[in-house]
Amino acid sequence: MKKPTARSADFMVLMSRFLFIPMMLTICVEASPITIPDLTKCQIASASAPSGPADTLFFNCCLPISGPIVDFSFDRYKPTRKHIRRPAHRASEEHIAKYIKAYELMRALPDTDPRSLTVQANIHCSFCNGGYLQAGVNGNIPLQVHFSWLFLPWHRWYLYFHERILGSLIGDPGFSLLYWNWDDQVYGGNEIPELFTRVNTSLYDAKRRAEVQPPTIVPLAATTLPNMSASIVTNQNLNNMYQSVVTASTASLFMGGALRAGVDLSNVTVLNNTLGGSLENGLHTAIHYYVGDPTTQLLQNMGNFGTAARDPLFYSHHSNVDRLWEVWRLNMPDGERADHTDPDFLNAEFVFYDENANMVRVKVSDVLDNQKLGVYYKKGRSDHVWINYSPPASTNESAVPVALSGGVPLVGESPLNGTISIGTNFSAIVKRPSEEKPSKTLEVLTIQGVQVARDQFVALVAFVNIPWATENTTTDSAEYLGTFNIVPDPAKSSLNTNVKYEIGDNLKRIGLEKEAEVVISLVVTGSNATVTIQGLKIDYEDQ
Ligand code: C2O
Repeated sequence: MKKPTARSADFMVLMSRFLFIPMMLTICVEASPITIPDLTKCQIASASAPSGPADTLFFNCCLPISGPIVDFSFDRYKPTRKHIRRPAHRASEEHIAKYIKAYELMRALPDTDPRSLTVQANIHCSFCNGGYLQAGVNGNIPLQVHFSWLFLPWHRWYLYFHERILGSLIGDPGFSLLYWNWDDQVYGGNEIPELFTRVNTSLYDAKRRAEVQPPTIVPLAATTLPNMSASIVTNQNLNNMYQSVVTASTASLFMGGALRAGVDLSNVTVLNNTLGGSLENGLHTAIHYYVGDPTTQLLQNMGNFGTAARDPLFYSHHSNVDRLWEVWRLNMPDGERADHTDPDFLNAEFVFYDENANMVRVKVSDVLDNQKLGVYYKKGRSDHVWINYSPPASTNESAVPVALSGGVPLVGESPLNGTISIGTNFSAIVKRPSEEKPSKTLEVLTIQGVQVARDQFVALVAFVNIPWATENTTTDSAEYLGTFNIVPDPAKSSLNTNVKYEIGDNLKRIGLEKEAEVVISLVVTGSNATVTIQGLKIDYEDQ
């Protein structure tokens, strides 16, 4: 009796395998994480490239193919030493000397070497201006690692390999990047770190904005005017940190929203628009803008993604972005926060070069814990200052009546109002949800279907309760919601995205919790670019 039983059990296992395979296939087809592109098909010199010598220079960022792609594993890349990233403005001369040497050697490698600064910069260039197409999808859809949940993990992997390459070039496996502590408004982190300004060293880049050199405070608000007092600039910086990190408590608000295979950012509807996170759009991109040189075309180097990573300061800037992701997750007063858990996030794949110039396939799920990768951040000395910043309200009653009598329109969800052109500023009265706020939710404003041509820098600044706000309205008060900064793109593509801000904390601080409607104002600054939106919506979103 035993044998037939065993055989029928085998048969069952076999059958279940047959049944299981088609099931698996269906699952694979439905799930659609971003995967690595076909690197033999580089699109950079495509017809969409603008003509003329100055711009075509950006487009030569196709990547060298250096042998078969290996899969990342923690075993293969076991950290032998801890990489402890410290604030750049407090670095020792010993660390600075190593830094200068490492970038000297990186710059000296031939442009064909994947570890050279040229190729390192081209990695960034090619994954943000459509150098490669998404694999396994219908149609030609550029792969883009900005404006979505891919932003933070992609850049963390990028730094991880960049740091290992620098370390191996100087024979120091414990070599660590220095982070530019630009959020620090107390101890001097908010200037371009001095080591990067040493002319004639490998850390210097001549293409930086002349007006934003030390001791000038680097602004985090795109509306900062040259004649603003230092105290307004630092308070605006603190409020930008507070609004972008502290109250942006959900993974979507802070990290950005879903980008799955098959989504084309330059051709989407409001419904499948991506969403960039507050760390990326609000803070990170402001730094790019203020470091780029406005006397060059497209704010080279830091001011556009095609050239940004040519400047060694880029990697120090991104080390702070990466650090803030960790601070957001672990060190906020409301306790530990959660990254996205969607399988299309966790299974998204990228490709990089390691310190031996091998190509490595990596997954998002392997980069969510820095310490597993041997990376540690020395705590920022003044993090608590912006974490505890308490923006004062500059108004004390609802501006809805005055806005109504001044002709400010009521605007609702897309597609009710069609396409709205923002001009230089635009105000609208927006309804709040009528039901009671469920616990564990946030009240969130969505600026739906923002569309902008990326041929110049532009910032879209949002306020509540300040009708007719202008670019002179300061962003240090509780009425400030946040800024969506967009750097120009050498491919001059257009961008469709949603922009979201937590608004409940702002309304409470102003005393508007009971109001049925509020005035939302949008200000376009930085350039005269045309920005359009599809609607405004306030609702409750899960935490
Ligand atoms: Cu890939 Cu700071 O941008």
